[in-house]
Amino acid sequence: MAEIETLISQTERHHSVFEECIRKLKVPVCAAFRGRAGVAPVDFQPGTETLSTADSGEVNGHFPRTAAASHNRVLYGSGPSASPPQGKRVAVLFSGGPAAGGHNVVAGLKAALGRGNRLLGVRAGPKGLIEGKLFEVTDEAVEQILNTGGFDFLGSDRTKIKKEEQFAAVRKTCLDNQLDAVVVVGGDDSNTNAAVLAEYLFQGVHPGGAGVQVIGVPKTIDGDLQIGDLLPISFGFDTATRVYAELAGNILQDTPSSRKYWHFVKLMGRAASHVALEVALQVKPAVALVSEEVAEKRMSLSAVIDGIAQVVVSRARRGVNHGVVVVPEGLIEFIPEMNALIAAIDQEMAVGAAAIEEMKEVDRVAFVPRRLEAPLANLFHSLPAYIQRMLVADRDSHGNLQVSLIPTERLLKDMVATRVAELDPSVKFSPHTHFFGYEGRCGAPTLFDAAYTYNLGLTAASLILAGKTGYMASVRDLESGGRPLAIPLTGLLRLERRHGKDEMVIEKALVKCDSPAFRYFASRRETWAHEDVFCSPGPRQLWGPASAQLPMTVALNRGYASLAFRF
Ligand code: FBP
Repeated sequence: MAEIETLISQTERHHSVFEECIRKLKVPVCAAFRGRAGVAPVDFQPGTETLSTADSGEVNGHFPRTAAASHNRVLYGSGPSASPPQGKRVAVLFSGGPAAGGHNVVAGLKAALGRGNRLLGVRAGPKGLIEGKLFEVTDEAVEQILNTGGFDFLGSDRTKIKKEEQFAAVRKTCLDNQLDAVVVVGGDDSNTNAAVLAEYLFQGVHPGGAGVQVIGVPKTIDGDLQIGDLLPISFGFDTATRVYAELAGNILQDTPSSRKYWHFVKLMGRAASHVALEVALQVKPAVALVSEEVAEKRMSLSAVIDGIAQVVVSRARRGVNHGVVVVPEGLIEFIPEMNALIAAIDQEMAVGAAAIEEMKEVDRVAFVPRRLEAPLANLFHSLPAYIQRMLVADRDSHGNLQVSLIPTERLLKDMVATRVAELDPSVKFSPHTHFFGYEGRCGAPTLFDAAYTYNLGLTAASLILAGKTGYMASVRDLESGGRPLAIPLTGLLRLERRHGKDEMVIEKALVKCDSPAFRYFASRRETWAHEDVFCSPGPRQLWGPASAQLPMTVALNRGYASLAFRF
């Protein structure tokens, strides 16, 4: 007995049998990085693509140094770096919500920087950069974090570096720590911040005039940082969707077993429905909503509810009183009338920010609708109190409504129950709600995310050693070897209205209703609604035939010939 207790206590501090095994898992590396003695950095050459948005003229004016340096041209890894510099000091930080694989970005950076350069970790995100909280990343630490989930090695936060004193503090951190480069691992907003930092730190930071390079790495489980073939997907999406698909698959397996429940499963993913669409393709539920389609078809809340209720009633009439409804986290913002309401509330909250911030929740709920036009105020009052409260809650530091806090799944469940009773009072409808979010962000990365992130780290380090700044690291051609590349951040920026004013941001990539992944889903959903053809993908695999898979949406949208990734 005592021996067993000892064995169990040995698994404390990330030493479970599983964690010990994954640390030893060999991470696949793109051919471009394979040197004679392990991995080696690459050099870069301009490709044929030059990026622009509708606002490029204005953006280039605001980013004169980085835009002129890159000409907004995409760069491609062009072969082993001839003589990579030594003595560089590079800092890496995580920004925003965690995503599986972040630790392997650090490991990839460390490997490509090699012994001749130093890697420093920034504690707790951009705020840590402002406060100068840096520490040396050692080989021993990298061995411990390799292939493990979470962002706990560094920590993260959502601070947006925008005020003059914050920029000055970052400059001081760079000087104090003799930094040559900063790597920002983050989503669309964090990479926007990386673009701004790259411009600010372009030159004149160190005595003698040298600047500090800034490189972004595309992270977010939401999958809303995608740029066609240039950036097929952000890291963390694959792991999160596989965790959610496992859980949703288990629930689906329960439904025809217990034969009495409907489950409303809301999935994290912020505004875009990439996560919901991917999970739907993996498990084939009775109903899956895609927010972008709701917006495109200008569906009202009652039309969305009616659509679900009709499926419930039609299945019940065939004796099937169970099913699963997949709900994207951001749905509410895409229902046109709700979107108009949220935009009006955002505007009021931006105008009266200081006063509203001081108010108690109950006062906000009373105050804000009084400032709205009558139809929007009426809509606000028609919503349950649990939704009203969330609509007037604080926005995040990037000005986003905190959609993960809005219980949309509960709203749909309650409204569908009412509608089903109207349509056919004899139907037995017993619903449950679930919200899968945090469960999927920090699990150990899938083999794809482990490999993708390690190679993103190798790409980011190679860009630094090649003297580049203002780029986002990427790897394309995921099904045929993987090809490292660099995307000029200024080429992605456009103007968007936020907090009641125009800001330059990287546009969130939403699900396109004419994309191959959506069209495939649309061609199958009638069958899924009426026949129980679901499947249960089970836990993600790191070894064996199920381990080398890519997200289905990525494979469909990129026109890959197989669902397997190959590095
Ligand atoms: P990022 O955009 O920073 O990658 O965040 C992803 C996410 O997990 C969203 O899906 C979710 O809406 C949000 O973070 C939740 O934020 P928080 O961690 O602050 O609760």
